[in-house]
Amino acid sequence: MPLPEGFLQELKLRNDMTEVASSYVSLKKRGRNMVGLCPFHGEKTPSFNIYSENGSFYCFGCGVGGDVITFIMKIENLDYIDAVKFLAQRAGMNMPEDSFDDSMSVLRKRIYEANRAAAKFFYTTLTGKSGAKGLNYFHSRALPDATIRHFGLGYADENRYSLVNHLKSLGFNNNEIVQANLAYQNKNGNISDRFYDRVMFPIIDLRGNVIAFGGRIMSDAKPKYLNTSDTPVFKKSSNLFALNFAKNSDEKALILCEGYMDVIALHQAGFTNAVATLGTALTPEQALLMKRYCDEVIICYDSDEAGQKATNRAIDLLRNAGLLVRVISIPEGKDPDEFLRNKGDKGRDAFKNVIEGSGNDIEYRFRKMKTKYNLELSEGRVGYLNEAVKILSALDNEMEQDVYVSTLAKEVGVTPDSIRHQIRKHSRSKYNKRQKDNFRKLQSDLNGRNDKINTERYKKQRVTTAEEGVIAYLVKNQDKLSYISSQLDENKFQTEFNRKLYSYFSERIKNGDDALMSVSGDFTPEETAKIFRIINSDFAKMANDETLRENIGVINDEYARLKLSDISSASDEDIQERLRRLRDNRK
Ligand code: CTP
Ligand code: MN
Repeated sequence: MPLPEGFLQELKLRNDMTEVASSYVSLKKRGRNMVGLCPFHGEKTPSFNIYSENGSFYCFGCGVGGDVITFIMKIENLDYIDAVKFLAQRAGMNMPEDSFDDSMSVLRKRIYEANRAAAKFFYTTLTGKSGAKGLNYFHSRALPDATIRHFGLGYADENRYSLVNHLKSLGFNNNEIVQANLAYQNKNGNISDRFYDRVMFPIIDLRGNVIAFGGRIMSDAKPKYLNTSDTPVFKKSSNLFALNFAKNSDEKALILCEGYMDVIALHQAGFTNAVATLGTALTPEQALLMKRYCDEVIICYDSDEAGQKATNRAIDLLRNAGLLVRVISIPEGKDPDEFLRNKGDKGRDAFKNVIEGSGNDIEYRFRKMKTKYNLELSEGRVGYLNEAVKILSALDNEMEQDVYVSTLAKEVGVTPDSIRHQIRKHSRSKYNKRQKDNFRKLQSDLNGRNDKINTERYKKQRVTTAEEGVIAYLVKNQDKLSYISSQLDENKFQTEFNRKLYSYFSERIKNGDDALMSVSGDFTPEETAKIFRIINSDFAKMANDETLRENIGVINDEYARLKLSDISSASDEDIQERLRRLRDNRK
C-alpha cells in the first residue's frame, strides 16, 4: 500500500529540497534555480540543479534526478521507505502506521540485526574457549587485545553450523540468514555457515551498522579472503573499510590502502585516517564517498606490479572526483602492515617520514616515467619530454602546470617556453577530441539512441518530443487537464512510457492529488530521473499554451500518419472505418 498523500505532502513541506540538499552540497543561486557540484559524479563545473518550484533536482552531467526522497535514497544509500523514515525523523514526524508495504525495510532491519548478532558471536568465540586458534593468529600478526576489541575482530570456528545454530536460537529464520549472506542454502533447503575456520573482520557503515564481513583463512589455502557478497544492506562498491573510524580523524587527508590488515595496523600506529576498499578495485562511488570527508587522498597500495596498476587507476578516479592526490611508495616492496611491523616501536615515526616524503600524483608519475628513459641520450630526453607534456596538459590548474614546467625545463635542458608551447599544442588537440566526443554524445542524445527508459524515442523522435512537451505542460498546469483531454486522446501517445506517464498523471490529478507527489515511490529510480528530466528540461520551461497546441497537433498528426502507413495491410472495411475516424478527428 502506498503512503498516504497527506503524509507525503507534509513530509515534503517540512523537508525543503534546497535545504536538505544544501547540507550535502554547496549551492549557488543561478536564475530561479540553485546549482552546485553534483555529489553523484565527479565534476568541476556545476551541472547539479535544484528546482524549488517543484521540489526536485536533476543533474545534466550524470542524469540522476528526482525529488527530496530520491535525493536521500541516493546520498544516504537507503531504499524508499528508509529514506522516507529518515526525512520523517529529520522533520520530527511520525510514520503513518501499517499503511504501507515495508517488507523490504523489515528484511533490511533483520539483516542488520543478524549481522550484529553474528559479529558479537564471532568476537565471543574468538575470546572464548574455542577461540585459541584465531586469537593466536591475531597475536602472531602483532594485534593486541585492545585492537581486536576496537575493530570487533572475531573467529568463525571449524564447525559449519555454529553461527547458523546460534542465529536460529535467537529467532532468525533461514531466509533472513541466507539473505544476509551469512549462510549457504543447499538444494534441500538446509543452510550452513558461509564463514568457518576463518578470522573475521566486520565491516561497519557510517551509521554504525554491521553490514558485511571479510574472513581470512589462517593458512596458505585459497581463497585467502572470503567476503560478504552484495546483500540488501551491502554494496561492496560503495563502502569502505574503517571509514566509520576514519571520518572522525582530525587529519585533512584519508589514507587509502588495499587490505584490512594494513588499515588495522595503521590505526594501531595512530593513523586513524586509513581506509580500504573491500576486495575490489576503487570505484567512482568510493572516490565520491571519500570526497565527502576529505580534500586529499594518500594512496598507499602495495609496491608490486598489480598495486602500481591499481595506483594509476585510483589517481584518475580520485582526481576526477575533485580530490588532491598523493602517492606513497613503501620502501623495500612491503605493504603498510609489514612495514610497520618490521619497524616495531619506531613504526609510527618511520611511516610519518614516508608520508612526508611522498610526492603528489604528478611527481609519482614523473618518477615512474623517468625509470623508462635514459636522460643522457637526446632520444631519451625527447621521449621523456613528450610523455611529460601529456601528463601536464591534463592539468586544469595553470599554476600547478608552471611549477612542473620549470623543473622539467631545468632537468632536460630546454626553455620553459618551448615546453609550454608543446603543452598548448597537445591541449588543443585533446580539446578538439573532447569537443568531438561531446558533440557525438550530444548528437546521439538528440536522436535518442541513449534513451534507456523510453526506448521508442529513437524511432519516433518527433512524436516523443511532443508527448514530453504535453506531459511537462500538464505537470506545470494541472488545472488544464480537462482541456488537454478534450483535445487529445490518451491512446494517441505512441511511446509506451509516455502514454503510461500521461495516464498516471491524469489519474492522480483527477483524484485531486498532486501529480508529482509520489513519483519517487511509484517509479524506479531510473524512471524517476527520466521523469524529472522531462519536467525540468529547458524545453519544458518553454511550455505554454501555444506550444501545447503545437504539441497536441503533432501527436494527432503523427497518429493519423501511423494509421495511414499500415493501411496497405488492412481490409477494405478497415480502411473505410479509419478514414471515417480520421475525418472525425479533423473536425
Ligand atoms: N582480497 C580479497 N580476496 C582475496 C584476496 C584479497 O577480498 N582472495 C582483498 C582483501 O580485502 C584484502 C585486500 O584484498 O585485505 C588485499 O589483499 P592482500 O594484499 O593479498 O592481503 P593483505 O591485506 O595484505 O592480507 P594479509 O596481510 O593478511 O595477507
Ligand atoms: Mn598484508
